[in-house]
Amino acid sequence: MLSSPLITVAIDGPSASGKSTVARGAARALGFHYVDSGSLYRGLTWKCLRESVNTEDPVAVAELVNRTKLDFFVEEGAIRFTLDGEDPGAQIRSMLVQERVSDVAAVPDVRARVVQHLRDTTRFGNLVMEGRDIGTVVFPDTPHKFYLDADPEERARRRHQEFVKSAADTTVDKVLASLQRRDRKDSTRKTAPLQIALGARIIDSTAMQAKDVVEIVVSQVRDAISKG
Ligand code: CDP
Repeated sequence: MLSSPLITVAIDGPSASGKSTVARGAARALGFHYVDSGSLYRGLTWKCLRESVNTEDPVAVAELVNRTKLDFFVEEGAIRFTLDGEDPGAQIRSMLVQERVSDVAAVPDVRARVVQHLRDTTRFGNLVMEGRDIGTVVFPDTPHKFYLDADPEERARRRHQEFVKSAADTTVDKVLASLQRRDRKDSTRKTAPLQIALGARIIDSTAMQAKDVVEIVVSQVRDAISKG
């Protein structure tokens, strides 16, 4: 009997462009697993900070990442991981991790290891994966590619609301400056910069509700699957 081919849906875009909400919603509707690739870069950044590794020292960062063991598991439809047996949980969303993650993600050795781990998650089955290089580097052959965007002000407003929920003390202007700094680093780094993948459908969600974006993604993927 022939087994059906594995399906990977790639959702890329800049910070706070709605990728997580959309990727989660699409994964649920399609019955696929959800993978937040940024959580791996954030988790490794958290580990650097905890072990007092200077995140601006690529050699020290690569050394820490190479000796850190990652284990993956499925929880409520999402693929999650532990670092040396520890789950960093919500700590990966802290302001400090957010400020340092783009430095860690720019280190080529770190990217090579993370990309390998991300590709290995296909052993769990069909996936919706969000990130910066999913359609360009991790799964360049998938026909299911999306690039989400939104005006920087709207993205900063959305991210600020998330911080307010976690009681963090910040302003929309500060969040905007931090997002723009990170976008600049992510788009200009040498290895796997944020780019629109060839063949990706671009969706500007500035004036859209997340459920409508989910609907576009899900119906396009279902259409493509039914056409074989
Ligand atoms: O939630 P947000 O979109 O702000 O960021 P994230 O998806 O959690 O990613 C955090 C950081 O990880 C990004 O700013 C990138 O520096 C890095 N990243 C990456 O380089 N490649 C990916 N596929 C995913 C994230």
